[in-house]
Amino acid sequence: MSVPWPYPFWIAHRGAGKLAPENTLAAFALGHAHGYRMFECDARLSADGEVFLLHDDRLERTTDGRGEAVEQPWGALARLDAGAWHGPRHAGERLPTLAQVLAFCGERGCLLNIEIKPAPGDEIRTGRRVAEVLAAASVVPPPLLSSFSPTALAAAAAVAPATPHGLLLETFRAGWLDEARALGCVAVIAECAAWTPETAAQAAAAGLRRLAYTVNDDAEAERLRALGLDGLITDRVDHFVP
Ligand code: G3P
Ligand code: MG
Repeated sequence: MSVPWPYPFWIAHRGAGKLAPENTLAAFALGHAHGYRMFECDARLSADGEVFLLHDDRLERTTDGRGEAVEQPWGALARLDAGAWHGPRHAGERLPTLAQVLAFCGERGCLLNIEIKPAPGDEIRTGRRVAEVLAAASVVPPPLLSSFSPTALAAAAAVAPATPHGLLLETFRAGWLDEARALGCVAVIAECAAWTPETAAQAAAAGLRRLAYTVNDDAEAERLRALGLDGLITDRVDHFVP
């Protein structure tokens, strides 16, 4: 079965890779300035159920906060500095909510790949809440949802069955194809080095779109293009022209 696929080939990882503080509006603005029209981002939950962007379970690496993000209410998370770690010109940048990022993309005609990044044990609540935010925003074309957590993906799909979703894979573990099918996935998004001619052919034969993360060099991009992949997620928005 072929599904609508409105998504461009190049997708900017965490907004603009490493060129701006990841998963902030400053990063999306920079990726957009480099011509990117689709952004990958990492979505998780505060203690009180706000969906916001942050890659790590903990706050220390990319904010001036401390501890597990999931233990703090949004009111406290919203006050954190999420830009100073990257450099003084981004000091004062805030953690964005998913709703803010959807609005940013909507105003610019851009698309999102929302990676559901649940804290351990919080997979079902996170998947559901992300899907609820999407349902409330009713974005067209819809974001592409993804997760390494099949549980989170299934929870999101139960709330928003029409939203396309893809299974993230670090490796093509045994049973990956059955897993993707059982979850109703339209795509598999695998670590770039994991793609081989065999896995690319298996996914294509199953009608799945095929994406790779995180593609940062020319030879790897060419190899994946030659395998017929449908999309590449990159940090190097200043190098690969979308
Ligand atoms: O969604 C693709 C990629 O972002 C997955 O890895 O750790 O960068 O979120 P990570
Ligand atoms: Mg990610």
